[in-house]
Amino acid sequence: MLRGLPVLAHEMPSFDPTDVPDAPVPLFAAWFATAVTAGVDEPHAMTVSTVDADGFPDARVLILKDLDDDGWAFATSATSAKGRQLAGNPRVALTFHWRELGQQVRVRGFARPADPAASRQDFLARPFGSRVATLTGRQSEPLADRAALDIAFARSRALIGADPDLVAESHTVYRVRPETVEFWQADRERRHVRLRYRRTPDGWDRELLWP
Ligand SMILES: Cc1cc2nc3c(=O)[nH]c(=O)nc-3n(C[C@H](O)[C@H](O)[C@H](O)COP(=O)(O)O)c2cc1C
Repeated sequence: MLRGLPVLAHEMPSFDPTDVPDAPVPLFAAWFATAVTAGVDEPHAMTVSTVDADGFPDARVLILKDLDDDGWAFATSATSAKGRQLAGNPRVALTFHWRELGQQVRVRGFARPADPAASRQDFLARPFGSRVATLTGRQSEPLADRAALDIAFARSRALIGADPDLVAESHTVYRVRPETVEFWQADRERRHVRLRYRRTPDGWDRELLWP
């Protein structure tokens, strides 16, 4: 079954790596806008990889919450597995895969908590259901049974209902300052284009990579 499945067989855009901005964020923004226009499903979903205290990698999908000149931002609980891992080691990798376009973007950098006001603002901007889930907390802790979850959600619903400004203390926006960013464009003949930006003391270097 696996061998019969096509991969990178559809029509995909071409990418000229000589016609790019000096820094990676504007190129990411342009690729992202194209992904949205092309109707890519959940283009803001990315794999966030961290390492634990034993150097064991861990990875999960998160939503991109913000992008600015300083880099990428996501939001999660500081007390979750990933939050604890980041407290011990801020090294992080982000991977975007836009299947419909045959594109991948790989970011490596350092994740730091944003200031508490930004985390608070992010929490209050979330839909009611997300706030209920986040306020309930205990993300990544073992759950004895689903009934315990229902009880905890009901309690969080009541708390937020009574005080709409209530904020989950552990909710944290993390900003990722990139060290390297790679743009990968698939080619049906497997002559994939790989362009890597690398941070230098004065800005960014760029280099092509063998596919
Ligand atoms: C599409 C998608 C989006 C998600 N977005 C988030 C998110 O923005 N924040 C978050 O904490 N978890 C998000 N999750 C859940 C995480 O993948 C993960 O299960 C959770 O954060 C616990 O991870 P941890 O045990 O490594 O801390 C998302 C999952 C999916 C599939």
